[in-house]
Amino acid sequence: APFKLAIIVGSNRKASINRKLARALAKLGTTSFTPHFVEIDDLPMYNQDLEAAAWPDTATRLKAEIAEAHALLVVTPEHNRSIPAVLKNAIDWAARPSGKGVWGGKPVAIIGASPGGVGTACAQQHLRDILGNQGALVMGGQMFITWKDGLVDDADTVTIDATRAFLQAFMDKFAGLVGKLAA
Ligand code: FNR
Repeated sequence: APFKLAIIVGSNRKASINRKLARALAKLGTTSFTPHFVEIDDLPMYNQDLEAAAWPDTATRLKAEIAEAHALLVVTPEHNRSIPAVLKNAIDWAARPSGKGVWGGKPVAIIGASPGGVGTACAQQHLRDILGNQGALVMGGQMFITWKDGLVDDADTVTIDATRAFLQAFMDKFAGLVGKLAA
């Protein structure tokens, strides 16, 4: 596959529905993307004191993994009508030190799953704004996935045909955008 895709899941819980969705998207994107999951649950809470004194290895790793990717896919839940703190923490680390962030110019696709019908709409809106301010090239459009048990099976396959087609179109659209930007 031509493009390296860094996938960030905005949840740190083991049974995350967004991680399941992310695995399914990685599988749907295999013609265009080689996926790599970027873990964010091992980062310390951002503290500017650490920048000078003890910049963490985990933050170095995070930045390197984002920097070397052609594109980013952020699959995130919504917490209290915004992005989870663990995701904001990762965004803050990878934006530092000032002027040396790694978000600028990166094509980003945003999607999220929630058990609730309008879930992740506010989180996605905030995320678009935050990453846009970092200079990321966030793909337009809205992708809210209402989660039902069994939507993604143990082989990372989307079990509902219409949803699978919808998610395939999303990955194809993103691959098209990344291809245009790489040209
Ligand atoms: C939630 N949840 C939630 N859902 C939603 O659609 N909008 C919201 O604002 C919130 N707020 C919220 C706050 C907190 C602190 C928690 C723990 C949960 C429910 C959420 O969608 C559900 O727990 C998902 O399963 C979270 O995604 P992961 O972690 O399974 O990927």
